[in-house]
Amino acid sequence: MDLRNKIRSVQNFPKEGIDFKDITTLLKDKEAFKECIKQMANKFKNEKIDIIVGAEARGFIIGAPLAYELNAGFVPVRKLGKLPSDTIKYEYELEYGTDTLEMHKDAISKGNRVLIVDDLLATGGTSYSVAKMVETLGGEVVGFDFLIELEFLNGREVLKGYKVESIIKY
Ligand code: PRP
Repeated sequence: MDLRNKIRSVQNFPKEGIDFKDITTLLKDKEAFKECIKQMANKFKNEKIDIIVGAEARGFIIGAPLAYELNAGFVPVRKLGKLPSDTIKYEYELEYGTDTLEMHKDAISKGNRVLIVDDLLATGGTSYSVAKMVETLGGEVVGFDFLIELEFLNGREVLKGYKVESIIKY
């Protein structure tokens, strides 16, 4: 199945000049959603993943079923102020200003084999931030698994040295 056909391009969202890749059209299609998780799981099925980490919000939608498929646990990374227990924080640069991501300090145990999952690799800022938090907590980042990669933004360069997989490239 060609999953590329299931993704909708929306011009000028969220602002002028952006060609937004909308995954909701893939997610609502039961065969396409299943195929997407299967293809993403296949990339890391022999890696003995302990924990999948996914960032709010679309990283949850892809990350949770992938964790189930790979027999791994799921850990959420959230935007500031949403997690109830002790957290580690990571501030990263946006086009204008900064944003802060958080995860629970006890979410990762030393030596855990961690796979970082998201719907989209753009600049790589989100995924890099997640990797740094995982490593600070003693986890081993085995790699990154994306549904979509926007190659022209060179996010892969930010993640160099890591194994980076994606299903659909633009
Ligand atoms: C999007 C996407 C990735 C991130 C990729 O999330 O789901 O998490 O941006 O961009 P980057 O590689 O440049 O960091 P967004 O921050 O829009 O949050 P959302 O999932 O809550 O919509």
